[in-house]
Amino acid sequence: MIDFHAHILPGIDDGSQSMEESLAMFRLEQNQGVETVVATPHFYAWRDSVAGFLRRREKSVRSFLERLPGGEAFPRLCQGAEVYYFSGIGKAEQLSALCIENTSAILLELPFEEWTEKVLEEVRFLVEKRRFTVILAHVERYYAYQKNKAVWNRMLELPLCVQINAASFSERKKQRIVNAFFEQERDVILGSDCHNMGKRPPNLEEGRKMLVQRAGMAALEKTDALGERILAHG
Ligand SMILES: [Fe+2]
Repeated sequence: MIDFHAHILPGIDDGSQSMEESLAMFRLEQNQGVETVVATPHFYAWRDSVAGFLRRREKSVRSFLERLPGGEAFPRLCQGAEVYYFSGIGKAEQLSALCIENTSAILLELPFEEWTEKVLEEVRFLVEKRRFTVILAHVERYYAYQKNKAVWNRMLELPLCVQINAASFSERKKQRIVNAFFEQERDVILGSDCHNMGKRPPNLEEGRKMLVQRAGMAALEKTDALGERILAHG
């Protein structure tokens, strides 16, 4: 079990605000049987440099690991980022530094508005020319903003992965779009997108159960296999 999207590191973004909260979130991941947590703090290019972000992440990871009880086999903490789209991202040189640890997979957050041709072409460039494994973060959340579905459809024709939030399986408004991803047999991975122990806690176990209810055990197995492949090769 891999949680591909987690704001679990302390004090680095709008996720966990304290070490205690991070530890509680980590414990909850563990209790749910999660084996790998990909820590994905927000990266906003207009706020932060890549070097500055990596420094802050390193500091947060180090302090967190120091506090994790020793001798526990899992979950493994893997470093990543949730990179928000910015103009020029297609050719941005330092992007590989923001990939999931030891992979060429990047968790990309797209604008919460109707996607333009420019957004599409930059993502296409990342996928086709730069050969990143692009993972669209919580893909189901953008759908409602795409009044004209032309760009959306072309975006999803690209060979990329989509990440669905565990909570979206139980949101009535998201059910149709979430189901469609499985009906179309797309490359789907899951994340909790956990931010805290309150309204947005780690909830991967629940999401996986719902996935099986909706799409069957084979779909869950496919998701797990894809997740393993991404972490192994990117
Ligand atoms: Fe997120």
